[in-house]
Amino acid sequence: MDRDLVATPTLGPAERTTSLHDLMMAQVQDLYAAEKDTVQVLAELARAASNPQLAYLFRLHGSETREHILRLKRVLDGQDTRPTPLRNRGKRGLLEDCIELASDQTLEPSVRDAALIAVAQHLEHDEIASYESVCTWAGVLGLHDMAGQLALSMADERRAESRLKRLGESMQARPQRVHTTT
Ligand SMILES: [Fe+2]
Repeated sequence: MDRDLVATPTLGPAERTTSLHDLMMAQVQDLYAAEKDTVQVLAELARAASNPQLAYLFRLHGSETREHILRLKRVLDGQDTRPTPLRNRGKRGLLEDCIELASDQTLEPSVRDAALIAVAQHLEHDEIASYESVCTWAGVLGLHDMAGQLALSMADERRAESRLKRLGESMQARPQRVHTTT
């Protein structure tokens, strides 16, 4: 990621939107840019994970994310909209948190896995919220095919978040059993 873009506002004075369609496409541009960065971030999370199941979930979602990128590019092309660098500071911050955590060697492995799950869940929640907005606006604007396509990606994000949540819960259950039986 280009850190020079960190301070760039999402919708600054120079890029005020003039319509719901503009607002929607600005969101699609940020989703596209964020998903492209997310593929790299998920690969780093997979390398950093100690739990093999967690590493698998990160790789699995990386594959899904590549499909999301293709869908978003088709949407951009269909609306004659060019891709842009990632402008949304919230999304950029979440991605940077993931990278920072993945490279942190000071944490005990199981604790780091728990932290990786937490930060990845934050990332998924943000993506879900963005897809929800875009799908709603596309429906309002009568772009039902676009809404349907992006709803597929949104469903993947929800499944990915749910898998992480379940694995996190099962991982947290293990040390508690050890402590209560010794
Ligand atoms: Fe995702």
